[in-house]
Amino acid sequence: MSTVVPLFSTPVYVGNIDVTEDEKKHCAALPKSEGAFPKFLISHDDRVLDDPVLAEMKNRALHHLECYVSDVYQLDQYRFNFYINTSWVSDMEHETDVGSHKHGHSIFTGVIILDSTVGNNLYLENHFTPILPSFFKFRYKELNQYNTHEWYFDLKPNQIYIFPSDLKHSAKCHLPSGKLSVLAFDTFIRGTIGKHSDELTFN
Ligand SMILES: [Fe+2]
Repeated sequence: MSTVVPLFSTPVYVGNIDVTEDEKKHCAALPKSEGAFPKFLISHDDRVLDDPVLAEMKNRALHHLECYVSDVYQLDQYRFNFYINTSWVSDMEHETDVGSHKHGHSIFTGVIILDSTVGNNLYLENHFTPILPSFFKFRYKELNQYNTHEWYFDLKPNQIYIFPSDLKHSAKCHLPSGKLSVLAFDTFIRGTIGKHSDELTFN
């Protein structure tokens, strides 16, 4: 029997996370101002998950992060662990396009969908992994995970996405009546990696 092995793929974690109404209200009420994109509001606080009100939510996010690094990547964290450093809330409204970007100084990025009307998308793109020779512009019967450098997800409330921080991503709020509110976070490691001459310790 033939088989196809999806070698060198980029794992994107999609899970369900409980977010209480009180947590959503707290996030909605955070002071925000216009960010790097039009009609895009971002919280002044860039460590929102450090607020005791969101302590339980942070634990739930860390549980998903642990599944991702331990079950998916099979990382052996015997001398280090991942932690959430920065975290912020952003609100988008009708026809907002948060342009393609990636996050520096972070290893994995998480996005929790607090609220989303139907028709909002998260786009991910990877133009570095070779798929097919790029000097031909092939036409495809159907796009799938083997023939495209871009992928998108339909966003729904109470979803969590986790992906490598240097994976380019963008979000789009397509409909005139569309609204999207997300809590995003970046991560880093604490502890020691490597050994002997390439050992590095992060406090
Ligand atoms: Fe981002």
